Amino acid sequence: MLDISAVSLGYGSEVLRFSGLKLGKGEQCLITGPSGSGKTTLLYSIAGLLDVLSGKISIGDTEITGLSEQARDHFRGRHIGMIFQTLHLVKSLSVIENLMLASYVSGMPQDRAYAESILKKLDIYDKKDALPSQLSQGQAQRVAIARAVLHHPVLLLADEPTSSLDDASCEAVITLIRQVAEENNATLLISTHDARVKKYFTQVVNVGVPS
Ligand SMILES: Nc1ncnc2c1ncn2[C@@H]1O[C@H](COP(=O)(O)OP(=O)(O)OP(=O)(O)O)[C@@H](O)[C@H]1O
Ligand SMILES: [Mg+2]
Repeated sequence: MLDISAVSLGYGSEVLRFSGLKLGKGEQCLITGPSGSGKTTLLYSIAGLLDVLSGKISIGDTEITGLSEQARDHFRGRHIGMIFQTLHLVKSLSVIENLMLASYVSGMPQDRAYAESILKKLDIYDKKDALPSQLSQGQAQRVAIARAVLHHPVLLLADEPTSSLDDASCEAVITLIRQVAEENNATLLISTHDARVKKYFTQVVNVGVPS
């Protein structure tokens, strides 16, 4: 499903050389490494938000490193769900409007009933007309998770989803992301330097050490 081979990643000059990673459909993997080791850079490269300097990344049958920027944007909108550390909710729009905007931006049909069903599943349906500023941190995070899985992504990427959370919320968020990935049969890749997250994953890749 996800196949990374011998990539060099960075912003003009290399910040991370990564020998490779293969993940099958529905597999879950944690990317760890100290601050500045390149975890976010790796996720952004997989999502096609950043050009690789060399090497190949394929998702399913699509080699995204061979696509134009526009084609990558299109592919991402349809097949990849991203949960960023900063949630990027639009402040002036309600929860449900944020979800509808995400569909619009990725060129997908706006299925309000389905979006509402996800909010119900994540237990935030009663907040569907609230503005992001009226949500708790945990509720806002669940909206970001809902937005990421709205289009049944084959690949779900989460960048430091727990770094600002207490232990109970950390466990809740990781459990929720894993469960949502399982329900969608999506491959899941989480980056973190949060040691608390390790115990939930059998596959852990450390980008801070030579591999
Ligand atoms: N937009 C950018 N332009 C140039 N260099 C960058 C940019 N973003 C990150 N870097 C550099 O790339 C390296 C890897 O950064 P990255 O954000 O991937 O690390 P990280 O492992 O996610 O760290 P953290 O755990 O703090 O989130 C760092 O040295 C950083 O300074
Ligand atoms: Mg990072």
